[in-house]
Amino acid sequence: MPRRAWLYVPGDQERKLVKAATLEADVVCLDLEDAVAPDRKAEARELVARVLESHVFQAGEVWIRVNAPTTPWAEADMALVRRVAPNIRGVLLPKTDASWVVHWAARHVQQAEETHALPPGRLALAALIETARGLVHVETIARATPRLQVLLFGAEDLAADLGALRTPEGREIAYARSRLLVAARAFGLQAIDMVYIAYKDLEGLEREAREAARLGFDGKQIIHPAQVPVVQAAFAPPEDQLQWARQVWQAYQEAQKEGRGVFVVDGKMIDPPLIRQARRILERAGEQGKAGRR
Ligand code: COA
Ligand code: MG
Repeated sequence: MPRRAWLYVPGDQERKLVKAATLEADVVCLDLEDAVAPDRKAEARELVARVLESHVFQAGEVWIRVNAPTTPWAEADMALVRRVAPNIRGVLLPKTDASWVVHWAARHVQQAEETHALPPGRLALAALIETARGLVHVETIARATPRLQVLLFGAEDLAADLGALRTPEGREIAYARSRLLVAARAFGLQAIDMVYIAYKDLEGLEREAREAARLGFDGKQIIHPAQVPVVQAAFAPPEDQLQWARQVWQAYQEAQKEGRGVFVVDGKMIDPPLIRQARRILERAGEQGKAGRR
C-alpha cells in the first residue's frame, strides 16, 4: 500500500473531519495529539468516533494519532481505538522515544482486535521520531514488533528538542532525517518525511517532497488538502522510470523461468540491485501487487 500523502486532520474540528472523508489522500490521520488543545481532548475523541462510524472514507487508509503514554489522555485515547478498531488501519504514536511505547501500544491494539474478533495483526502501528531520545533509540523502536510498519520524521518537535533553529535548507535536521531513513530501511519499514508547514507555498512543498523522494522516503506528512496531489505526484515515479521498471520486471520473470541470473534490458546488464530498484519503483507506483510482497 503506497503511503505517499499522510494527511493530518484535527480531531476536534468536525468540518475538517467530514471534508477529510472525501479526500483521496493515501492516509488520513485523525489527530488527538498536538492539533487538539488539552481542554478539547474528550470532545475530539467523541467526534472522531462519530465521524468514523458515520462516514465512508475515500482515503487509502485511516489512522488515529493518539497522545503519548506518559500524558493524562493516553488511556482514554486507546479506549477510543478499541471502540473504532474496525474502521481504522492503525495507530500513530507521537514523540516515540523508547521501545516500551511501541509495546504498550501493541498490547492495546491486540485487545482491540480481540474485542472485535479482527484477524490478529490487522491493526498496524507507526512511530513518529521527533525527539533526540527517540532518534538515539530508533533502531530498538524499529524492531520492537512486526506490527510497526512505518517511521515518520517530526522535524519541528525535533528542532525544538535539539535547540536548533529551522531553516529552509534544513541542515540542522539533515543528519536526523537520514538516520531515520536508514533505520527504516534496515528493518523493512516505510519512512515518511516531515511536514512542510508553509502550506500555501505549493512550489516549496514540491521541491521538498521531490528531495525526500530522492533521499529514499516513501511519502510526506501533510496538513492541508491542497498538499495531497502535489505530494502524490512528487512521490510517484516519473513515467520513464516506470516504463523501465516494468520492462525490467517482465524480463526478470522470463529470466527466472529460464533459470538465468543476469539478463539484458535496453542494452544494459540487469542484476539483483537493479531488480530491487525496479521493484521499489513499481511499489511506489502502487503496482506492488505485480512485484510481489515488499
Ligand atoms: N483536513 C481536512 N480538511 C482541511 C484540512 C485538513 N487538514 N485543512 C483544511 N481543510 C479544509 C478546510 O476546512 C476548508 O474546507 P471548507 O472549504 O469546507 O471550509 C478547506 O480545506 C480549505 O482550508 P483553508 O481555509 O485553506 O485552511 P484553514 O485556514 O481552514 O486551515 C490549517 C489551515 C493549517 C489550520 C489547517 O489546514 C489544519 O488544521 N491543518 C491540520 C493541522 C494539524 O492537524 N496539525 C497537527 C499535525 S502537524
Ligand atoms: Mg509532533
